Amino acid sequence: MKPESLMMSHGYKPELSQGAVKCPIFLTSTFVFSSAEEGKDFFELAYGHRQSKPNEELGLIYSRINNPNLEILEDRLTLWDAAAGSAVFESGMSAISTVLLEFLKPGSLLLYSAPVYGGTHHFIHHVLTKFGIDAIEFGVNDQQDEIIQKIEASGKAKDLALIYIETPANPTNDLFSILDMVKLGKKYSEENGHKVFVAVDNTYLGPLWQKPLQLGADITVYSATKYLGGHSDLIAGAVMGTSEVIPRVKTLRTFLGNMISPHTAWMLLRSLETLQIRMERQQVNAIEVARFLEMHPKVEKVYFLGEGGQVSAASQKIYQEQCLGPGAMISFDINGNEQTAFAFLNRLKLFKLAVSLGSTESLAEHPATMTHVDIPLADKLKMNITEKLIRLSIGVENLQDLISDLNQAFEA
Ligand SMILES: Cc1ncc(COP(=O)(O)O)c(C=O)c1O
Repeated sequence: MKPESLMMSHGYKPELSQGAVKCPIFLTSTFVFSSAEEGKDFFELAYGHRQSKPNEELGLIYSRINNPNLEILEDRLTLWDAAAGSAVFESGMSAISTVLLEFLKPGSLLLYSAPVYGGTHHFIHHVLTKFGIDAIEFGVNDQQDEIIQKIEASGKAKDLALIYIETPANPTNDLFSILDMVKLGKKYSEENGHKVFVAVDNTYLGPLWQKPLQLGADITVYSATKYLGGHSDLIAGAVMGTSEVIPRVKTLRTFLGNMISPHTAWMLLRSLETLQIRMERQQVNAIEVARFLEMHPKVEKVYFLGEGGQVSAASQKIYQEQCLGPGAMISFDINGNEQTAFAFLNRLKLFKLAVSLGSTESLAEHPATMTHVDIPLADKLKMNITEKLIRLSIGVENLQDLISDLNQAFEA
């Protein structure tokens, strides 16, 4: 069956919860063992002191290690990305930082695409550096041979351990090729004699419109705060991956203690039931909003992956290779300056002036002074993050109401 058919039931057994159709919230820190032998057995497996027997599942021990809400959520999430497994976290940043800490060690080299989410950038430059982990970045205009030159020029090619990309790039929808990164990972895995893992932050398009694991990536990370949660009412994160990756991520999570809470996991289970219809409606609205913006005399340029958008030729080629839809994130240059952009933002009524994305309500923000304020001006300009740029996250509202709201703000 398709994931959308299984989102209401997969992984949940009503007979274990008094027949309740919906999974209850398991607000308990610990679980009763039926015998001391059973407790010993569970711990041996949890701590990797023995291999699991055929069809054996880890018994419930303690909510930092496992909890029914967390496990059912993980089972359901794997369906969207056809992942071997998943691990859920208390935020997107905890998912990302756990992956970076697990697959890098002192002396390692990290290769990453720029721009990445500000929190990820901060973690790479202010936390990983404390552990002696070096990072080099590449941009959308760098060709594969230029990226290889950068790796070689670092003098640490042999220590390359992780390739991390965020695609589409926030806020301009520029794309990075997952297939190229998988090739690069293979090349250096062979040359270095150890596996170079490839991780993709798939928050912007996933899990409906981009499936990095199917293109050969080892790890997909999500801010589940965005589309997966979809209602701007929770903070959470997720990692999807191969059977080699997920046990390692879960073990580190156990000791960092940054797993999702039962309550947040339950809210996400509820969100997943409508994930597909929400995202489809958001995309349909976004395609029409992009067309409207494209025609509007006060708009200079629209950054959108679908019709009505003006992304680079390189991004269009990558779009054909790896994207299943244009998504619901649109940025555009307003004809004017910061003052014009602010006047427009201040007049919006239905669109809420707030950061974040992927939710049922439409949001608008000014990247240069808000989400991307930390990026040095010269870099911002290179990435087209100018004072004219406005970012929209399109929700599920009535399309005409959205367009009327934009129209009246332009008139202002
Ligand atoms: C692309 C991307 N990745 C990761 C994050 C971090 O997620 P969270 O805020 O859930 O920690 C964000 C947050 O905005 C994001 O936009």
